[in-house]
Amino acid sequence: MNYAQRALAAPKKEEPVILGIESSCDETAAAVIRGRELLSSVILSSAAEQAKYGGVVPEIASRAHTDAIGEAVEQAVKGAGITERELDAVAVTYGAGLLGALLVGLSFAKAYAFALGVPLIGVDHIRGHMAAAYLADKALEPPFITLLASGGHTAIIYTKSYTDFEILGSTRDDAAGEAFDKAARVLGLPYPGGPSIEKLAKQGRASIPFPKMFSGGGYDFSYSGLKTAVINYCHNMEQKGENYSKADVAASFQSAACGALAERAVAAAKKKGAAAVVAGGGVAANGYLRELLANECAKAGLKLVLPEKKFCTDNAAMIAAEGLIQYRAGNFAELSLNACAHIPLGKKGKQ
Ligand code: KG4
Ligand code: ZN
Repeated sequence: MNYAQRALAAPKKEEPVILGIESSCDETAAAVIRGRELLSSVILSSAAEQAKYGGVVPEIASRAHTDAIGEAVEQAVKGAGITERELDAVAVTYGAGLLGALLVGLSFAKAYAFALGVPLIGVDHIRGHMAAAYLADKALEPPFITLLASGGHTAIIYTKSYTDFEILGSTRDDAAGEAFDKAARVLGLPYPGGPSIEKLAKQGRASIPFPKMFSGGGYDFSYSGLKTAVINYCHNMEQKGENYSKADVAASFQSAACGALAERAVAAAKKKGAAAVVAGGGVAANGYLRELLANECAKAGLKLVLPEKKFCTDNAAMIAAEGLIQYRAGNFAELSLNACAHIPLGKKGKQ
């Protein structure tokens, strides 16, 4: 029997203790859950170092993960009040993300699981973002609508069961987070762009009529038009030598970027007769979007589940949460599990 078959054959716990490990971008994260209860979460970020370069430098990220991974896991296990011998499985992000960065977490997770003799679970980072809501609300059960808005993905998803999804719409070009990052660059704001725009937008008014990013009549989005509109507005004003308020640009951009997300998530829930909307991904940490979703869902009589902001951006608790789903589905990985730079939404990564 190989490693995954042995894991499948072994007796299963009702409420397993799972270590999650995440290293796909610039956060080295480890967390422990017992069933759907979060026991600990550690996030060691290299974002401050990356900010000097205006974005993530892959080699710096890989080296920072190598420095931090041992400490992150040790802190998570200690913080959970357990010893590593009490772990029932190790779940790790195997993609999508920066290859060198992923390989650090993945190799560490394999060695850790092997040494403890527990199953290894490979987690798709985006499925992790989608699973964060299960820790935020322990009573949450599918079906519901998931609004996924991260740096690489924007989608409205009908979550039918823990493992079955229907993608109702997604972005045709840039992702929402990518648009935030690009708009921030145009405005000369520091990396990461999302939080910078949110902060500046608080001092401005959403007075500039930027286009909404709807594409067609379905649930698809297009963010490249909005990005171009922001670039054109700033360049035009600069060419004409006119003063303009960067805070108003930030507020107007944020309003257009978030308005469509909330509107479409609620429309999808009505269409599918779903009782709840959940959100995940870095953009779901945006305070303006969270308020908008709260208002729109309340108006429509929908339950809203929003993970805490620190569990919307990259973290390992969400990886452990998706690990629990895979554990219950008996989906264990081989020790040959490799990293995957790209995993198409709703598909398995190629090994
Ligand atoms: O989910 P995430 O942490 O990483 C990916 O899996 O992509 O998302 C990162 C994205 C970045 O584009 C970042 O600018 C955006 O999420 N983001 C935000 C906020 N915090 C992070 N966007 C808007 N408002 C925020 N507060
Ligand atoms: Zn992410």
